[in-house]
Amino acid sequence: MGKIVIAIDGQSGCGKSSTAKAVAKILGYTYLDSGAMYRAVALHHLNHPFELTDQGSVQKALNQVKISFQQNPKTGKQETYLNGQNVEDEIREMKVSQNVSKVAAIREIREAMVAQQRALGEAKGVVMDGRDIGSVVFPNAELKIFMTANLHTRARRRLEELSSMGNVTTLEEIKENLAERDRLDSSREESPLRKMPDAIEVDTSHLQFEDQVNQVVQLAREKIEKVKSYASNN
Ligand code: CDP
Ligand code: CDP
Repeated sequence: MGKIVIAIDGQSGCGKSSTAKAVAKILGYTYLDSGAMYRAVALHHLNHPFELTDQGSVQKALNQVKISFQQNPKTGKQETYLNGQNVEDEIREMKVSQNVSKVAAIREIREAMVAQQRALGEAKGVVMDGRDIGSVVFPNAELKIFMTANLHTRARRRLEELSSMGNVTTLEEIKENLAERDRLDSSREESPLRKMPDAIEVDTSHLQFEDQVNQVVQLAREKIEKVKSYASNN
């Protein structure tokens, strides 16, 4: 009782997924990475190209895509599987980052992903990050966070992250990719990224990671208390 849904939306690389993961761990909630699902479809599209503008081809491709998440027993890290194959590292590569926003703009693909995301979050006690979580996937989420950070900071952090994974790229290439995805994700017709009126903005540009996690945990605890007191008064 008293569990809530926490939606964290925002631009690429502002800290959504790492914050969401840490918050979920502290609260004992489930973390769900909606971006990983779009990345998995984008990887499938690279390996088995299909016509994004043809509904029949899109539907056929979606029927061939099975996405799941499994916890790695050694690291405890949640990993993404595409048709039974671990694609966690591959979906973070630049080739996927450069393909994902055009794949994620297709209505049929979004509908299929949103249905799975809703099913995964049905039980509450969930932190989900993405672009349309507070607007489309869980419009009734008790806590909505809209995360931001300036482009240079986001690119610098992403470069560090990718370099530590052994990916070869440059600050300029990352900046270009983040800016292009921001543009596509915010201007598309289907579920564009936007700040909902009931979302709380958290700008991480000048925050320490621990501070942004604590801020979200604090907001979540306040909401959880409200939900509990409402339940006990009704
Ligand atoms: O981690 P990063 O911010 O780079 O991206 P991501 O969360 O892994 O999402 C990758 C891409 O998937 C985004 O740029 C969007 O095009 C798309 N996406 C979306 O459209 N809706 C979501 N709920 C999540 C991701
Ligand atoms: O999910 P999203 O694309 O919004 O960002 P992310 O994948 O969480 O990547 C943000 C990177 O910046 C991670 O490596 C974080 O550890 C790091 N970071 C942060 O999120 N916040 C800070 N205040 C400092 C670093």
